Amino acid sequence: MDMIFWNLVLITAAAATILWFSSAIYAYMKIKLITSSKLPLGSLGIFPFLGESLHFISSAYSDRPESFAIKRRRMYGKVFKTHLFGNPTIVSTDAEVSRIILQSDARIFVPSYPKSLMELMGKSSILLINGSLQRRIHGLIGNFFKSANLKAQITSEMEKYLLKSMGNWREDSPVYIQDEAKHIAFQVLVKALISLDPGNEMELLKNHFQEFIKGLMSLPFNFPGTQLYRSLHAKKKMVKIIDGIIQAKRDNNCSKKINNYANDEGLSSNIGKDVADALINDKSEELTDELIAENMIDLMIPGEDSVPLLITLAIKYLSDSPASLEQFTEENLKLKKLKEKLGEPFSWNDYLSMPFTQNVITETLRMGNIITGVMRKAMKDVEIKGYLIPKGWCVFAYFRSVHLDDKLYDFPYQFNPWRWQGKEVSNCNFTPFGGGQRLCPGLDLARLEASIFLHYFVTQFRWEAEDDSIINFPTVRMKKRMPVWVKRRI
Ligand code: HEM
Repeated sequence: MDMIFWNLVLITAAAATILWFSSAIYAYMKIKLITSSKLPLGSLGIFPFLGESLHFISSAYSDRPESFAIKRRRMYGKVFKTHLFGNPTIVSTDAEVSRIILQSDARIFVPSYPKSLMELMGKSSILLINGSLQRRIHGLIGNFFKSANLKAQITSEMEKYLLKSMGNWREDSPVYIQDEAKHIAFQVLVKALISLDPGNEMELLKNHFQEFIKGLMSLPFNFPGTQLYRSLHAKKKMVKIIDGIIQAKRDNNCSKKINNYANDEGLSSNIGKDVADALINDKSEELTDELIAENMIDLMIPGEDSVPLLITLAIKYLSDSPASLEQFTEENLKLKKLKEKLGEPFSWNDYLSMPFTQNVITETLRMGNIITGVMRKAMKDVEIKGYLIPKGWCVFAYFRSVHLDDKLYDFPYQFNPWRWQGKEVSNCNFTPFGGGQRLCPGLDLARLEASIFLHYFVTQFRWEAEDDSIINFPTVRMKKRMPVWVKRRI
């Protein structure tokens, strides 16, 4: 009996394996068959599922991740086909083609991300939804982040948190810039999103969030013991906390409810005007509490990731470029002295109107490529500039190779903020914040936060940076978290 059972198991397993391989080979052959003359040149690799993923990943881990694309661009042209992470993919290193991809709507391209990331984001995340709902949420968030009141609030909060943190920095041990920037940017963003002040409750949220974010690039297996499982669990706890805040906001008797909730959860009751309010007050009634809570969590990602990295990389590049650092410091000290003389505080506009400071941030965005590119999936056969992108294929608008293209930027690997003097920063050769309908609504905020952090850093300290290197995959970060030894300026 045992024997028969095991034979059956073996036969079933063999049949399943044969079926899987034949369907993979069939899918692969089908891809090969579509290979008409209009399809961009390129190679789908020799293995059905892997394609060229291993080449892509090994370049991504090197200090020149764009070498994968540069090599193929030389052989096949600026737009080429490949096979990445299980999907036939068209890679665009052509700024004009990428611009058209970014400007297309959901009838042509929809966002496409790795499975674990889609599962963690949830189906109502702004990064994944399409059509009128995406435009509505994008508009609400964008308008909120553009408002002068919010910028003034962010400025005073960031100054407060920075002075507190920097007051604790010691001269006899290294300061880890990446950690400090993460700590501050997260606090500022959470305050703007749900009006939570730093304290125990913020720490609780941050701990859950750090567990959540670890799963974004994990393997797509969801069962106890896996990272994805732990991250989904952490997200549930965050949704519960944020849902409590939303309920309190929705209630007419807001303050009473908040106090109850705060007492239950040990949370404080400082609820003010924030992004959650902007979504709650939307008249369309399309925005459910679940959608709002999920999006609040997604919106925390730039606070832990993109903005702190912008700050950290700017300090790294300035440390490596004495001439840039000298002019940057001079500009910031000059305005500081002028403001002190006039007896005026800095406004958000002061930070954003120092031209060299903004050029340093622009150059950091170009070289740092914090978001290396964006992925979409074609909803139908599309032709752009004579290239066919077949229905169902992925398309990767690869910003990094455009930002480091020597035909567009002289000495592209040289940190040169002066190249931006008097230049237009909004053109299709420079897209660190994406473009079209999904242009990052937080771009002003990111620049403002970076300008404030950098201003306080250079005007309060001199520093020596320890040797450190940039890792680019799966996300951009510093290998040693950017340790620096600081000395207070007299
Ligand atoms: C250095 C900092 C940042 C960089 C480099 C960055 C980059 C980007 C890029 C490239 C996109 C386009 C994604 C796509 O087309 O699929 C995007 C979208 C987005 N960003 Fe940012 N971002 C930054 C900071 C922020 C901040 C501070 C916020 C606000 C909390 C924010 C909120 C968003 C949102 C909500 C979207 C989705 C927009 C939509 O799909 O409609 N980002 N960002």
